[in-house]
Amino acid sequence: MNRVGAIALALLPFVFTGCPSGGIGTIDGVATCLACHNGRVGEDMRHFLISSHRQIACGTCHVGSDAHVQSGGAGGGLINPANWLIEEQAAVCAQCHNKEVKGFLQSKHKDARIGCDKCHDVHTPLRTVGPVQNNLLCQSCHLRDWPNAAAVEAHTHHDVDPGGTGASRCIGCHMPAQTRPDVPGQEDRAHSHTWMPIPPITSANQANDGDTVLPNSCAGTMGCHDGTVVQAPVFDIDNPAQMTGLQALYENFYPDAKVAEAPGE
Ligand code: HEC
Ligand code: HEC
Ligand code: HEC
Ligand code: HEC
Ligand code: HEC
Ligand code: HEC
Repeated sequence: MNRVGAIALALLPFVFTGCPSGGIGTIDGVATCLACHNGRVGEDMRHFLISSHRQIACGTCHVGSDAHVQSGGAGGGLINPANWLIEEQAAVCAQCHNKEVKGFLQSKHKDARIGCDKCHDVHTPLRTVGPVQNNLLCQSCHLRDWPNAAAVEAHTHHDVDPGGTGASRCIGCHMPAQTRPDVPGQEDRAHSHTWMPIPPITSANQANDGDTVLPNSCAGTMGCHDGTVVQAPVFDIDNPAQMTGLQALYENFYPDAKVAEAPGE
């Protein structure tokens, strides 16, 4: 079997059963790897011990690492997800982050081969490889499209103060939260990874259908027009009439915007 097939087969049980219980908390797996990856033999990975993933055995993501260990460190490149197809990388993360992966697989970032590792280094305590509150991470690639504040303002139709009031913060519109911390079972605070803005009408439709109303790109819980930003007028996401009104403003700003589906559960 080729390498791609072997990785896919090894991950199959996880993709269908969700988060694996075996392996997590097996500190053994971490110690085995760090016996070499401590700066003396392989690349120093000791910072992993202070990361959010510290409870997870290295081999949970580095599928097939047994042979690497048994051979005393040969063939490390084979088990490095940076060398895999984008879909294989995403399948590794889907074991535990299915919502993010589902959105990502529909996105232009996936098409453009911008994998999870371009924005996240799972071995570090940092949530993202660069700051997002001030647009730096996004602008590190998108600066060409919007090279200065005037260009960003023309795109967003808002003032530009991403690090202050949050106005024109890329992720505010492009990665709104897709859970409500006040609803039981939704404490995980997943953010949309389709990067498609979610128009206010989506929340109105959810309310009218009797579904859980989720935050959209303009208003929500911990969004902009929900009271979080003092200067911004407040709209109630649970009130369909207010969301329909906000939709009219959205369409006025963005007459060409496609009406995106809400990313699925
Ligand atoms: C016996 C020492 C040893 C052990 C144990 C070991 N490694 Fe390595 N590892 C190395 C050496 C040396 C390299 C660099 C040579 C190479 O890339 O083949 C390496 C390379 C790697 C690479 C590739 C880095 C790159 O630049 O592509 C990864 C990923 C990796 N190791 C992960 C692991 C994981 C996960 C474990 C535990 C399951 C582990 N290693 C256990 C010695 C070790
Ligand atoms: C949650 C999944 C995950 C866990 C757990 C994990 N890694 Fe990784 N690792 C990755 C991914 C994805 C990459 C490729 C992208 C990157 O470099 O961040 C990678 C890359 C690496 C590399 C290549 C060098 C580098 O920094 O890019 C080494 C070496 C490595 N991991 C070792 C380890 C060791 C040792 C452990 C445990 C102490 C570990 N990893 C735990 C996902 C993981
Ligand atoms: C075996 C389960 C597991 C796998 C596989 C896994 N993660 Fe995680 N991840 C976790 C846990 C547990 C947390 C901590 C959750 C929390 O603090 O709420 C986490 C947190 C995160 C966070 C938030 C970090 C922070 O500090 O806020 C990011 C980003 C992340 N993971 C990305 C990834 C990526 C990318 C991959 C694939 C390379 C991956 N994870 C694979 C279990 C996993
Ligand atoms: C590592 C480079 C890189 C980073 C970092 C990055 N992007 Fe992208 N992004 C791309 C590429 C490449 C494309 C596809 C080509 C294009 O549309 O420019 C893209 C496309 C997009 C699209 C277009 C989607 C569509 O359907 O047309 C949006 C929206 C987007 N990115 C938002 C963001 C946001 C928000 C951030 C910050 C969280 C970000 N990007 C960070 C490289 C990047
Ligand atoms: C106030 C909301 C808002 C903010 C803030 C915002 N965008 Fe957008 N963006 C949109 C809307 C709406 C669209 C149109 C989506 C569609 O076509 O359906 C869009 C489209 C895009 C596209 C794809 C279409 C194109 O014009 O190429 C990219 C890439 C993009 N935005 C990146 C960014 C980046 C980078 C930032 C931060 C500097 C940012 N956006 C900030 C609302 C916003
Ligand atoms: C273009 C950059 C980018 C890419 C690519 C990306 N993410 Fe994220 N991700 C982010 C940002 C930005 C946040 C933080 C959003 C916030 O805190 O408001 C985030 C947050 C997360 C979190 C924390 C929980 C949440 O949803 O907020 C997880 C887990 C995560 N991402 C997993 C992934 C996985 C898995 C992939 C690949 C399938 C991926 N991400 C690809 C930018 C990215």
